[in-house]
Amino acid sequence: MENKLNIMIVSDEDALMSQLKTIAETKSEQVIGVRSNEAVREMNREMAHIVIFGQTDTDTSVEVVQMLKIINPNALILFIANASDFGLLRNMTRAGADEFFVFPEEAGLFSSRFPNIVKSYAAKKAKNEESAAPTFGRGRGKIISFYSGKGGSGCSLLAASFAQTMKLESSAEVILIDLNGQFGGVETLLSIESNRSLADLQPVIEELNESHIRNVSQTQEHSKMEVLISPCDAEILETLDEEFIAKLLRTCRRSFDYVVVDLPSSINGLVVTAMEESDKIYYVLTPDTPSLKIMKHYEELSERLGLVLTSRMEIALNKLSKNFEVKQKDLKNVLRYPIIASIRQDTKGLQSFINQGQPVRKQAKERKLIPFAKDIRKFARQVAKQ
Ligand SMILES: Nc1ncnc2c1ncn2[C@@H]1O[C@H](COP(=O)(O)OP(=O)(O)OP(=O)(O)O)[C@@H](O)[C@H]1O
Ligand SMILES: [Mg+2]
Repeated sequence: MENKLNIMIVSDEDALMSQLKTIAETKSEQVIGVRSNEAVREMNREMAHIVIFGQTDTDTSVEVVQMLKIINPNALILFIANASDFGLLRNMTRAGADEFFVFPEEAGLFSSRFPNIVKSYAAKKAKNEESAAPTFGRGRGKIISFYSGKGGSGCSLLAASFAQTMKLESSAEVILIDLNGQFGGVETLLSIESNRSLADLQPVIEELNESHIRNVSQTQEHSKMEVLISPCDAEILETLDEEFIAKLLRTCRRSFDYVVVDLPSSINGLVVTAMEESDKIYYVLTPDTPSLKIMKHYEELSERLGLVLTSRMEIALNKLSKNFEVKQKDLKNVLRYPIIASIRQDTKGLQSFINQGQPVRKQAKERKLIPFAKDIRKFARQVAKQ
């Protein structure tokens, strides 16, 4: 099965080309080598499954990888850089490269990992063909909203901790957007003091771009994720219309890999628009009867509003403990949507973080995580895999 894969090697350097060919030919009989200016045409002619792309100048590399990914969103792109460069890594990941190696330092690593990379790609491909499930290409970020119909469920805490963790655990670009329109949301959880809010984008909304957003957003000190806080005056938030929110989210989607949105419990036009724009809605549910009733109510309301929840809504169970009236396994039987995360009640662990306005995660490889942070990490890894 594996030797039926088409492998395309793109390089403008002869030595690298022949080095990569030797490695590729151990795993496939169908290996072709092209120059960077021929790659797009070749991809159109014969679909390559795996592309090994040796860096040429940065702009061309990004552009060509982007094009290849458009032609075949399922192609696996392995990028070979000639120097370790974080900016390039980021741009390439955003363009759609799946793996990143620096040559010559990592040449050995590459050739030892290559057989496994091919094997797992072949397995994934076979599985996709079997289920004929639609696969999503990269190149556009995901909008993930956190919502709960019941106030105090942990929506803001989950959204902020999830976004923070996602940023620390991956090379993804993350922005957290607070749409609560009141004090005590993410800016308190992350100790962000600012007089700039997303309402400041209103004058430029027609031509909104990434730098407008970065001018208004705050960079969270530890993780370096961007945070757009809501105007703490609900009246100002009300002046923003649905078109504003749609434009804001779409622009963010183009510039960030994950756009995490913290939504208020009360439903209005803005909230519905944000939900419509979302790829995923994570409903934060605490295991008690009132919360379940409120969620049912939300499901009915969505149906009336024409908001499609199928394949979009998933449930993040929060504040799980042994003492709760509804047990997790009973919940599984009554819920109509999949459970994406199970997060323990961790009042003791969270206390000092909440009191000091500190995020539960500060570094990438952190030891001694509190139970809450461990559960969020599991949650984020699960989402990153999708
Ligand atoms: N897993 C957990 N264990 C212990 N306490 C938690 C947990 N999750 C959330 N909390 C606590 O619950 C409270 C409410 O959290 P949060 O403000 O995130 O909820 P919310 O749903 O955003 O509320 P609001 O309706 O005010 O927007 C906070 O004090 C938070 O510390
Ligand atoms: Mg909140």
